[in-house]
Amino acid sequence: MSELNIEGAKSAHIGRRAVLCGAVAIALGISTDLASASVPAVGIKQIGKKIQLDLAKNKALAKVGGAVTIDLSNGSSVAIVRTSAGVKGFTALNLSCTHQGVTVEQQGSTWVCPAHGSAFSSTGKVVRGPANQALFAYPVAATAKTVTIG
Ligand code: FES
Repeated sequence: MSELNIEGAKSAHIGRRAVLCGAVAIALGISTDLASASVPAVGIKQIGKKIQLDLAKNKALAKVGGAVTIDLSNGSSVAIVRTSAGVKGFTALNLSCTHQGVTVEQQGSTWVCPAHGSAFSSTGKVVRGPANQALFAYPVAATAKTVTIG
């Protein structure tokens, strides 16, 4: 689970997909500024076994509670979450529920599993079972311009 490799097929299309989703939302008059919904990360690159993302291209991370997601080659996803305003205020969580592996979804400030209802805090701690272990958290190194995980 700790292996970090961006999914090859999707990583080439993440930017275009995000742009298309934004264009459709704008065409439909839907606000894309949903604080409670994570969005696909853009401006990401693989550096060895680490993943780095450009903060200027991921506006969702400007606000505490914002999150972006990255699909990994192993089929799981990682969320980078803004947990506080400081330069160190980021966490990176594997979104596979620790109960039976279903991908959790962001609902407000929590991550909720659609399978059996487990809920996790924005930093991945269990707030409701049946899961009894926190979401896996990757090491994070952040600067004013980038967040690197792994
Ligand atoms: S797989 Fe998530 S609560 Fe069961």
